[in-house]
Amino acid sequence: MAAVIFTGAQLLKQQSGLVGIAYIRVNNYSSDAKVYNLASLKRGTGGRSSFNGIVATVFGSTGFIGRYVANKLGKIGTQLILPYRGNNYETMRLKLCGDLGQVLFQPYYLKDLESIDKALKYSNVVINLVGRDWETKNFSFQDVHVKGARDLARAAKKAGVEKFIHLSALNCDGPNEAIFSRQGSKFLSSKWEGEQAVLEEFPEATIFRPSDVYGQEDRFLRYYAHNWRRQGQYMPMWKNGEATIKQPVHVSDLAAGIVAAIKDPEAAGKVYQAVGPRRYQLNELVDWFYRVMRKDSEWGYKRYDMKYDMFFKLKVSLTQKFSPAFPVGNLHWERLEREFVTDRVNQAIPTLEDLGVNLRRMEDQVPWELKPFTYGLYFGTDSEEPVVEPKPPKYVS
Ligand SMILES: NC(=O)c1ccc[n+]([C@@H]2O[C@H](COP(=O)([O-])OP(=O)(O)OC[C@H]3O[C@@H](n4cnc5c(N)ncnc54)[C@H](OP(=O)(O)O)[C@@H]3O)[C@@H](O)[C@H]2O)c1
Repeated sequence: MAAVIFTGAQLLKQQSGLVGIAYIRVNNYSSDAKVYNLASLKRGTGGRSSFNGIVATVFGSTGFIGRYVANKLGKIGTQLILPYRGNNYETMRLKLCGDLGQVLFQPYYLKDLESIDKALKYSNVVINLVGRDWETKNFSFQDVHVKGARDLARAAKKAGVEKFIHLSALNCDGPNEAIFSRQGSKFLSSKWEGEQAVLEEFPEATIFRPSDVYGQEDRFLRYYAHNWRRQGQYMPMWKNGEATIKQPVHVSDLAAGIVAAIKDPEAAGKVYQAVGPRRYQLNELVDWFYRVMRKDSEWGYKRYDMKYDMFFKLKVSLTQKFSPAFPVGNLHWERLEREFVTDRVNQAIPTLEDLGVNLRRMEDQVPWELKPFTYGLYFGTDSEEPVVEPKPPKYVS
């Protein structure tokens, strides 16, 4: 059951518990249990079958960003403890992220502190990717983004974890622009409070503030591609999408930044803005997505100002009311509130580039990501027609 092989380590006591990580008492005559310096147990050349000295507990690994982070960590010989809730079959694909025996699952419940302690007690790195885009009956934003984050940070500190990485969100600091509601985005304000809670418990934590993240199974490209986001072929947007500027980041770049922050001792106690290399007006981006999906004006695509459409507003409210746990097409008021907030990048705060990440341009990545949504790609005459390269979006900077 033990997942790391410790050759030459003396006084090693194999834990027979669920996690099965090696646990060592430094003095065999002492009753004081102390976690061994895992970094000194590095083995191999740095690939998937080595051990790089990192045992990382990744909370929220079953989500979109979690899959990429687990994959990147597994590839470099990290041992992964992946806490999960609910059905264990949903996590099983993550088993392949690392070498045999290096990916271990642990059931937990965010409100059960003992289960949190168990999930991170053998790790030297903890990553918190737990988050929600909308509130549910059981978990409010406060529960997940503030109290949950605080509990994880506190438990990590208590267990002697060396690195704590926390995912927040861009635009959570500074004024919370109110677009549809009176108080602005509750998601963003809870993310700001979450950052403060984490820093109170774990002052050396590294915080990432991602903008909209795109990639496989994202909630950015898929949100706009979803039929429910449109009214027929028409796309309603606040102020026609012309008043919003976005700087989306590719998920793989964000995951690379998280891995780089684990390795970089300078990253402790810093905040990083995870943004892409270019800024675009939102209307430019969405029009381009539709050109790439071959759903251009000839197909019937047209963008308009949503203030003229009461039916769209009614649709959002009804979706939220009748499908609260999983809003169809991710369409709910909180999402719309965040959707039209302009991305603010503070020049004084470092970005992924400061962690050595070579950022991908949307123009190079998005056509591939949107392939499954391309109209007439797999059947019909369209698939045989020569494809005209769609005009790329204009970028602001
Ligand atoms: N994706 C973006 O564009 C974006 C942008 C800015 C910030 N972020 C932040 O980045 C982090 C990761 O984002 P993501 O896109 O990977 O999110 P995601 O796909 O929604 O995944 C969220 C993860 O959190 C877990 N989770 C949610 N509520 C929980 C609860 N009450 N108890 C235990 N686990 C819970 C989920 O577990 P289950 O699988 O069991 O539900 C899942 O593993 C989040 O904090 C998010 O707010 C994301």
